[in-house]
Order: sequence, then C-alpha cells, then structure tokens
Amino acid sequence: MAKEKKKMPAKKKATPKAPTKKKANVVVKEPVFKVSKKTPQTLRGFKDILPIDEKFWNYIRDKVRAIAYDYGYDRIDLPLLEDTNLFIRSVGKDTDIVGKEMFAFQDRGGDNVSLRPEATASVARAYINHGMLNLPQPIRTYYIGPMFRYERPQSGRYRQFNQFGFEAIGDIHPVLDAQLIILTYKFFEELGIPVNIQINSIGCPDCRKEYKTQLVNYYKTQKSDLCDDCKVRMTKNPLRLLDCKEEKCIAIAEDAPHILDWLCDECKNHFVKVLEFIDETEIPYNLNSSLVRGLDYYTKTVFEVWPESKDKKAQNALGGGGRYDNLVEMLGGRPTPAVGMAIGIERTILKLKELELEVPEKEIPDIFVAQLGEAAKRKCLGLFEDLRKEGFKVAESFAKDGLKNQLDIADKLKVKYALILGQKELSEETILLRDMDGGVQETVNYSKVIKELKKRLGK
Ligand code: HAM
Repeated sequence: MAKEKKKMPAKKKATPKAPTKKKANVVVKEPVFKVSKKTPQTLRGFKDILPIDEKFWNYIRDKVRAIAYDYGYDRIDLPLLEDTNLFIRSVGKDTDIVGKEMFAFQDRGGDNVSLRPEATASVARAYINHGMLNLPQPIRTYYIGPMFRYERPQSGRYRQFNQFGFEAIGDIHPVLDAQLIILTYKFFEELGIPVNIQINSIGCPDCRKEYKTQLVNYYKTQKSDLCDDCKVRMTKNPLRLLDCKEEKCIAIAEDAPHILDWLCDECKNHFVKVLEFIDETEIPYNLNSSLVRGLDYYTKTVFEVWPESKDKKAQNALGGGGRYDNLVEMLGGRPTPAVGMAIGIERTILKLKELELEVPEKEIPDIFVAQLGEAAKRKCLGLFEDLRKEGFKVAESFAKDGLKNQLDIADKLKVKYALILGQKELSEETILLRDMDGGVQETVNYSKVIKELKKRLGK
C-alpha cells in the first residue's frame, strides 16, 4: 500500500540578511553567499601567472636563491594571514598601507586578521616568537611570496603581487646596510636592468621629533596650496608630506627643510659610514632628501630602487628598504637593530620584458617517445618511466594516436631524438630511433636503446 505523503509545513522564505553569532562579546557577521551564473573572473587587481611566463618567474626565483646563497641568507616562509595588530603596530596605523590598503576582516572566530601587505613585520614577529635572539646574530633570512594591498590597479600595481625580501636582524653595524644595498644593486645589474639607488636617512625618533616640528612649521606657511591628503598628513604623518606625488606638493617639498641637517650625531655617523662603505664599490647612488618610505618602522637608512628610464614620467619603484632598529622592540621583543629590503617581482618582470632582455628558455627535452596502437602505448608508458629514471628529460603525447601528429609536436619541442614504437617493433622487440634533425631512422634492439641514447646524448 502506498504510503500517504506527510504534508510538510510550508517553509518560511529566508530573508538574505547576515545572521550573527556571538563569541566572547564579539559579534561576527556570517557571510551571505549569493550564487552568480556568470563565469567567475579573477578579482580586480589579481592576476593569473600563466605557463607562458614561467621562464621569467623561474629566472627571478633562481637568481634570488643564488644571491641568497652567496650572501648567506636562509629561506623563511611565513603565513599569508596574520593578526591585524601586527601591521598596525609595525607598518603604522596612519600609513596608507594600513589605513587604506589592507585586506582586513574578522574571521569566523571573531579575530581581526589581515592578508599580509608586506613581510618585514612577520619576519620580526617570527624572530621574537622563535627566540632567534639566541642564535648567532645577525639572523639573515629571505622570503619570496605574495603580498596584498587594496590599491588602485594599474600597470605594475596590483592588489596581489609578489615580493622577495632580505632581512638581517640583530646587528647595528652600518656595513650591513651597505651590503644590502650592494646586493640589491647587483641583483638588477646581473639581470641587465639599469637602476638608480636613492638613499636617505630619516634618523631616529629623537632627531626626527625636532625635524618634524620644523617640517610642519614650513608646511603651515604653504597650507593653502597643499592637496587634501597632505593637509591630513600635516597632523597624522608629516614625513609623508615629502613624497606626495601631486605636482603642486612636489614643488613645495623642494624647499622643505632637509632631514639630513637635523640628524643627531649617532644617526649622522651611521649614515656617513653607510655611504663610505658603498663608495668602496662603484655602485652609483643618489642622495635623495625627500625619500621617506611609506612604512612607519624605519629608522636611519632608507633606500629605493628606481628604474633608469628615458621616459620622464614617474616610474614605480622596483624595490625599497631600510633600517628598522625599533621594530622588534615595538612588537614586544628586546631592543634589536635590523635592516632589510624587498623587491617587487611583477615590476621586475615588466622591466625584463620592456627591455627585451634575454631570459633562459625552458629546458629542451632529450627524447620524445611516440607510439602507434594500444599495445605500444602501454609499453611506452613503462619506457617513459625507465628513461626518466636514467635521468633523461622525456616528452610524449600519449593521448594522441597519429604518428605525424606526434612527430610534429616533437619538432616543435626541438627534441633531438624520437623513439617510435609500433606493432612491428613490438613483435620484433626493437624500437625506431629517429634523429629529428635529418629525419634518419634506424632500428635498435629494444633492450639496448637506453645504452644507445646515453652514448649519443653523452649522459
Ligand atoms: P615597499 O616599498 O612597500 O616595501 O614594497 C617593496 C616593493 O614591492 C615595491 O618597491 C614594489 O616593487 C613592490 N610593490 C609594492 N606594492 C606593490 C603593488 N601594489 N603592486 C606591485 N608591486 C608592488 C616593503 O614592503 C618593505 N617590507 C620592504 C622592506 C623589507 N623594508 C625592510 N625590509
């Protein structure tokens, strides 16, 4: 007997509002998911890095690893998501990066978290968390990875971008600043990208205090001509008045008092020594009294890498860095001097392309394995593994059946030799060895083919 269907009570239509849940006095908004039928696209300012660009990325990563090895920096990998407080206390709450550009949100547990806009703060946090002060100083680490800033996207400016950075923590000697600037310059020189190093010193909080007063006094006399952002900077972040990109503010900055005239003896001596060490090499640099950088943790030396360009319009900096002697202490560690830099990988690759610089091509495979028929296909799968085990770089197109198709692919890959296995060769326990340059083919005993290839390819 058919069961009578129970009448379900009519469902109430849920209003699409964000329900909330409570945890320790924190009200967390649960996300409301709306499903769209449109094909999903990358978010504005986010980019896919496609295989066609792989050679550029490999080239940069290999170069970074080589430089790190040469200068004694070890790799560190840090979380992409951190406590928002970390960046407020290090980069600074009144900076553009923290105030306007962070991907900051509450997670499902009610914690305030942010996608990292930079990694120096995380390195300093890791230094404290892992008691690295007990290791021989300075600790030298490097990182490569994505950073996130909610900026207005344009060429060379993205919301997710990649940096590599070098940080030396635990020593105050000016030779460290100089060597970091030297290695930064060498990185670009070895890639063939002409750059200009801009250097300044922004002193320590003591000398900066007096300088800020002088600076604000000067800007007060110019207030009516300043852009709106600079009017705010006068009270919130006066040093940033100096690197405003608005034309009228650039002109005003030119006559502003120079910080170098206000440095205390210690900061002045440090800066002179940094420059003297750099002068030992032939690295060109520019003293730039307007260079202040956009992060609050800097003390003393600051520098940026500007691309040399015939194009007179302002270009994005390729990298930047400086000393941050108070950061570890600001985050709760012992007073620990440090210096570091970071370079934008996308911007570097854009330059490589713009200058049409040579980049190592992908490795050409040694051998292409072609097959005809089901049984041969199966046997070739094993042959591929045997060849790979012997250290050959092997290419194949096992999903294709026609020989012409497969040999066309081998040609495009510029492979030197192709091995061809068909029904006839299978039954005779042989294989065809084809020289792709002249198209000459010879029959080789299957069991001897690896030895023969080793001989021909000098392996
Ligand atoms: P930064 O100057 O903010 O410094 O960034 C370093 C580099 O990252 C820039 O020069 C640029 O090449 C790249 N970059 C920054 N924002 C973007 C973006 N939106 N799109 C593409 N590339 C970008 C720092 O991050 C400091 N942590 C450097 C440092 C390390 N100081 C001491 N140690």
